[in-house]
Amino acid sequence: MHKHHSALGLATALRPVNPVTLIRPHAARRAARFFVEKFPGKTLYAVKANPSPDLIRLLWDSGVTHYDVASIAEVRMVRETLPAAVLCFMHPVKAEEAIAEAYFEHDVRTFSLDSMEELEKIVRATEGASDLTLCVRLRVSSEHSKLSLASKFGIAPSESKELLFAARQAADALGICFHVGSQAMTPDAYAQAMERVRQAIVEAAVTVDVIDVGGGFPSSYPGMEPPPLELYFETIHRAFESLPISYSAELWAEPGRALCAEYSSLVVRVEKRRGDELFINDGAYGALFDAAHVGWRFPVSLLREPDSRAKPMAFSFYGPTCDDLDHMTGPFMLPADVQAGDYLEIGMLGAYGCAMRTGFNGFGRAETVEVADEPMVSLYAAGTEEVASNVVTL
Ligand SMILES: Cc1ncc(COP(=O)(O)O)c(C=O)c1O
Repeated sequence: MHKHHSALGLATALRPVNPVTLIRPHAARRAARFFVEKFPGKTLYAVKANPSPDLIRLLWDSGVTHYDVASIAEVRMVRETLPAAVLCFMHPVKAEEAIAEAYFEHDVRTFSLDSMEELEKIVRATEGASDLTLCVRLRVSSEHSKLSLASKFGIAPSESKELLFAARQAADALGICFHVGSQAMTPDAYAQAMERVRQAIVEAAVTVDVIDVGGGFPSSYPGMEPPPLELYFETIHRAFESLPISYSAELWAEPGRALCAEYSSLVVRVEKRRGDELFINDGAYGALFDAAHVGWRFPVSLLREPDSRAKPMAFSFYGPTCDDLDHMTGPFMLPADVQAGDYLEIGMLGAYGCAMRTGFNGFGRAETVEVADEPMVSLYAAGTEEVASNVVTL
């Protein structure tokens, strides 16, 4: 892998024709250490957010030993990359063949479920195994989050009694899990979800061994600057301590975005300017799916030397493919004199960015280069003690 000292240095020295994915291992290492040291339980990395084997190795070296995998391809890849990792298959609807392969060939013992059918599938596929940790996924509100996960999965807490009871019979350890939606903007999201967990435990009157609060931990984006992560951890810890569970019960979390958003950014070239619209060489089918499809705003900066002195103005982007869908509204604030041939850095694309890249229309190619400079925004950069002041305001 090529290395360079900074995004600016790379753009000015190399003038790359294709988009370049920049990776910053130090940023992912810092995020991992933060979770490992401060989250009051076990941290499972949600592999879907960025399935790069390099990243997964780096998280392992930083102390992340558990991985939330959601497909058999993720199971195989993580097992091959990290033979000693603990894998938890946390997709509530799985192919029976995938469950069997995960259990018998890859040593997976933890599975999530949200229906009787799935429970029956797991029991059948594992041939009635007696060493399973089964996590029943509860449906909780996504109202405090930017991306909802409330409709597709999860059993309503009021309907969970029978399933919890049946899972208890089949499991060696019984867990309850949920997901408050991605980019949860307040710790209250977890406090409310934990109340639902309480209700479900009381109604089912079962012994629960694991509480898994899922993902949803936020990163910082323009217009979406969250409170310090410590407040989330404190809220979760307090709620966990007050649940009617055995004193040896474990607390788990499955962060995706918060562990890898700062790991990666993208250098793109402006191929054309039309007023306040910039035609760039990556887009909706590349690493910018969320910018196009859910209007996500990412930090941007012009990589030019000497620096532009023009005032910032709002731009939208068009990606390189042939259709109008390949459009990112932004607004993206850049100096008013941006022109064709300029390079831009688009930050915070380590989560659900590079992972979504396709080859549609022949534009999938992007080289990866490691850089040593800081990510454009960081929740972790200013040291881990003074967290209240380390959110960069955009
Ligand atoms: C089951 C599960 N866990 C964890 C995550 C990671 O969520 P986030 O990236 O918001 O932390 C997801 C994301 O979809 C998920 O479906």
